[in-house]
Amino acid sequence: MGESNQKCAVVTGGSFGLGLAICRHLLAADFEVLACGRSQSRLDDAAAELSGLRTLSVDVTRPADRDRLFEAIEGFGRPLDLLVNNAAISRAHDYTADVTLAADQARGEIETNFAAPIELSRLFLALRREKGWESQPATIANVSTPGALFPLEANPLYSATKAGFHFFTSSLRRQLVDTPVTVVEIFPPALDTGLALDMEVPGAAENGADTIDAVAARSVTGILSGEERILPHPESEALVGAVGDKSEQLADSVNTSLKRKEGWEQFKRDGS
Ligand SMILES: NC(=O)c1ccc[n+]([C@@H]2O[C@H](COP(=O)([O-])OP(=O)(O)OC[C@H]3O[C@@H](n4cnc5c(N)ncnc54)[C@H](OP(=O)(O)O)[C@@H]3O)[C@@H](O)[C@H]2O)c1
Repeated sequence: MGESNQKCAVVTGGSFGLGLAICRHLLAADFEVLACGRSQSRLDDAAAELSGLRTLSVDVTRPADRDRLFEAIEGFGRPLDLLVNNAAISRAHDYTADVTLAADQARGEIETNFAAPIELSRLFLALRREKGWESQPATIANVSTPGALFPLEANPLYSATKAGFHFFTSSLRRQLVDTPVTVVEIFPPALDTGLALDMEVPGAAENGADTIDAVAARSVTGILSGEERILPHPESEALVGAVGDKSEQLADSVNTSLKRKEGWEQFKRDGS
């Protein structure tokens, strides 16, 4: 990315599905956009579809790939304005079925949906500190799901990892409240993408290309206006609205007394 005043964004899983549509709308909003994904051919197709899109083959679950991504970001020579943690996978599992009990199949979803975006967020914040960019406004936009707020029986690891990521996102927002980093959470509806090919997801088939594009457009508008909780579709509003914000209210009251002890950093340094 060259010298300019253009804002820069990285979108994980930007080669396909909702991530690709988010890239489209960020480019339309005049961002320089770097899309990541594992498959080079998907990245090539994305670059052919979206003029100006930059791509990098990155598996977000691999530490060396994450480091390579952040080397590329450092190479921009200016602060990253927006990190969109969008890449995720979802698989059907049944703990009464031999195929699920035969071997550890949890790791992929835990690494992709939970561990990787947390690690990318840390690297993003660490780079800002290292480079002295901490006073620059920036956004971490985490792509969540209404299904992060209630159990999903058929795909319990997607459910668990997205729930965990949801609470990481809310906690991170609380920690960064006095910094110029805005933490955004996007709750898309069921969409007809490549996410859950082994699942029957009600409503997904009807939410094809036009809906995916509209959800991405609304998500980018929300990111640009610093909306913390983006509900880009009536289904998102209905599901997230039904759960309500009781957990945030509870957090407001509990978090005033649940604190780090004086000297907690020393505990961390001593490894105790
Ligand atoms: N689709 C829905 O119904 C729905 C509903 C609510 C929320 N969401 C959320 O929306 C986001 C996007 O999902 P989608 O439906 O667009 O999924 P998708 O069509 O399956 O696309 C996923 C994208 O992530 C990339 N990806 C997957 N694993 C990766 C890895 N380890 N490293 C780097 N990139 C990786 C994929 O490319 P490669 O395979 O080439 O790596 C692809 O670009 C997810 O966070 C999902 O949870 C989706």
